[in-house]
Amino acid sequence: KSKEGGQVDGRRLVMVSNRLPMSLERTEDNDWQTHPAAGGLVSALDPVMRRRGGVWVGWPGIADEATDTLRDVLDARYNADSAYRLEPVALTRDDIADFYEGFSNEVIWPLFHNRFTVCRFEPDYWQAYQRVNREFAHRISEVARAGDFVWVHDYHLVNVADELRALGVHNRASFFQHIPFPTADIFCNLPWWREIVYALLSYDFIGVQTVTDRINFLDVLTTLFDHVETQAGEYGIDINIGDDGLTRDKQQLRIGTLPISIDYDHIERMAASEDSLTKVQRFRGNWRDRTVVIGVDRLDYTKGLPEKFEAFREALRRYPELRTRVTLQQHVVPSRQRVPQYVEQKEEIERLVGEINGEFTEPGWVPIHYSFHSMDQAELMAHYQVADIALVTPLKDGMNLVAKEFCAAQRDSDGVLILSEFAGAAAELGDHALLVNPHDVVSTAERIHEACYMAREERCRRMDAMREIIRSHNAFDWVEEFLRAAGANQ
Ligand code: G6P
Repeated sequence: KSKEGGQVDGRRLVMVSNRLPMSLERTEDNDWQTHPAAGGLVSALDPVMRRRGGVWVGWPGIADEATDTLRDVLDARYNADSAYRLEPVALTRDDIADFYEGFSNEVIWPLFHNRFTVCRFEPDYWQAYQRVNREFAHRISEVARAGDFVWVHDYHLVNVADELRALGVHNRASFFQHIPFPTADIFCNLPWWREIVYALLSYDFIGVQTVTDRINFLDVLTTLFDHVETQAGEYGIDINIGDDGLTRDKQQLRIGTLPISIDYDHIERMAASEDSLTKVQRFRGNWRDRTVVIGVDRLDYTKGLPEKFEAFREALRRYPELRTRVTLQQHVVPSRQRVPQYVEQKEEIERLVGEINGEFTEPGWVPIHYSFHSMDQAELMAHYQVADIALVTPLKDGMNLVAKEFCAAQRDSDGVLILSEFAGAAAELGDHALLVNPHDVVSTAERIHEACYMAREERCRRMDAMREIIRSHNAFDWVEEFLRAAGANQ
């Protein structure tokens, strides 16, 4: 299949996200290096694009390079033998500071994760957001052919459809929001909340992760417009906005609840690969008879890392019999390291790890094994398989694909998932995972204890059920559903 394929009944798929799956870096001797990007968005969409083909428009993670240079490097390093094409959007240092780190990650990200007190509502950030969204629209207008289906992802690019329309591009354009949508009470703190809502109305279809996100979005619409009528549709709701005396002519919108998933078969295959199984043998030797609790999180204050460490400390205090028997293996993947809250978060978690290890370490046993670097997939799969329990405890998360990947990697179905009720994944897995409120350190500690002593039969029953849910609704099913719901082939 040609890389320009990605056909939806003869039309190409044009994926758009801030970050491309591949980041570029200049080496000291002026050559180029590529790194795979981290995060749920890329890990879910990359396998889909590999299978379908098409074009992916986004930023390759580097500052102040000309678009032509980036295109040449991507053509040589990636496009030449990939199933789909990467099309670069070039960002300047100022764009990165004000659009990416600023408006996207110091305004929308904290606001949409219910942390509005840490938001920096800088007017310059908003200007940059509008400018860069216009730039993305401009690149899409050069890449997209008539009839192509434009699919925009995530909170960095809300204004893209509006800007496309302003450029006279009328391809179907849909949006998927990977992160949560907050309540109106929180959302309306944003000085530009009305502009964001109007921009969203320019999409033909919007997908969100959970029913709660959809309800919150609807709540925001009813705050802005006097007459909002809803009707149940096949994948969500159809919304009609009545006459509100505003100049916009857009009056209809469809919004669907479409929880994202993973490439289940690929994860299972990776877990069974020779590379991964060799590592399993090696890692098992390190842990002998210990119970291994695993955590894998991008560095982020939304992931509840300090709360997780506090809960683990509480478990060791309350249940002394767990000491020397249980180890928490926490892998943190570096992220957004120039944003001040992320720097603080890193300092806080490293201080806590040191404090807890200082309190409990005994000869031959360290309670928390902490790493701060990215990891290749085979190694990650090995860690998942060696672990007995996964501790996935974000304070707020759109979905959390680590929870799903951990389950897919449990080929013997023997593993326990402790999951935050505030992760989108809880809507699907909540009946079978051990659900916790991550702020409730005591009951999280009780769940850790419960997981350590759960009978094998119950562990397998719960894990089987979760694996089946994920297997029968994988990333490919998610894309098909989204395209159907969005009317991509109409
Ligand atoms: C989350 C977001 C993605 C983002 C990823 C990594 O998963 O939903 O849009 O790409 O985090 O964050 P970064 O800032 O490195 O792109």
